[in-house]
Amino acid sequence: MPPQSSALQVVAIPGSVRPGNFTGKALAILADELRQKPGINLELIETARIDFPLPGMSNGSPAVKRFQETVSAADGIILATPEYHGSFSSVMKLVIENMGFPSGLSGKPVALLGVAAGKIGAIKALEHLRSVCSHVGAIVLPGPISIAGVQQVFDEEGNCLNKGVEQEIRSLAGNLLDYLRKSQCPEVPLEEMVRHGNSMEWAPPTV
Ligand SMILES: Cc1cc2nc3c(=O)[nH]c(=O)nc-3n(C[C@H](O)[C@H](O)[C@H](O)COP(=O)(O)O)c2cc1C
Repeated sequence: MPPQSSALQVVAIPGSVRPGNFTGKALAILADELRQKPGINLELIETARIDFPLPGMSNGSPAVKRFQETVSAADGIILATPEYHGSFSSVMKLVIENMGFPSGLSGKPVALLGVAAGKIGAIKALEHLRSVCSHVGAIVLPGPISIAGVQQVFDEEGNCLNKGVEQEIRSLAGNLLDYLRKSQCPEVPLEEMVRHGNSMEWAPPTV
């Protein structure tokens, strides 16, 4: 389906490039939930396919430029990270470093999802990621989802074996959309106001 201009633009970014990674499996469930909602255009970034340069470097990659434009145009962002060595992944940090100055995350609502092999889940990864996102001016939504013991939660095909966890992941979609729909002032298309002659008669498109 072609993108609808009045639809909300949501961008989801995985922070693992490991073949068969669990971050991608969790994100796929969230993406499935989002795609069932009306009025949403979801773009799932293929992090592993983008040649992100090291911080402060430029490689002139069109894919990186397109990535930055996609983030800038987004109404909401989902960042999904594995927990590596008690924090979020260096891949995710590199992705954030490549969002520019000021950061493309600035002013954007951001929902967080983390996966970890350990019993306490991705708590540290999510706290650190929240801190960095806040530092660059993102509006980090409360209620990040942390998945513990992730190897036991998904099968090889990416099916979630724990219905409670699946429900939690899916609920993140609803939380983000509720926030996007209820908190943002509607953008008023000025030309439309002129055509209708009376701005009071203009109603924002329903999404
Ligand atoms: C470099 C590295 C560091 C890790 N550090 C942690 C850790 O601190 N805590 C934890 O619970 N799991 C840790 N793990 C295990 C990961 O959480 C687990 O492999 C998980 O599946 C990673 O997500 P991914 O499959 O999306 O890459 C680590 C894994 C790697 C590769």
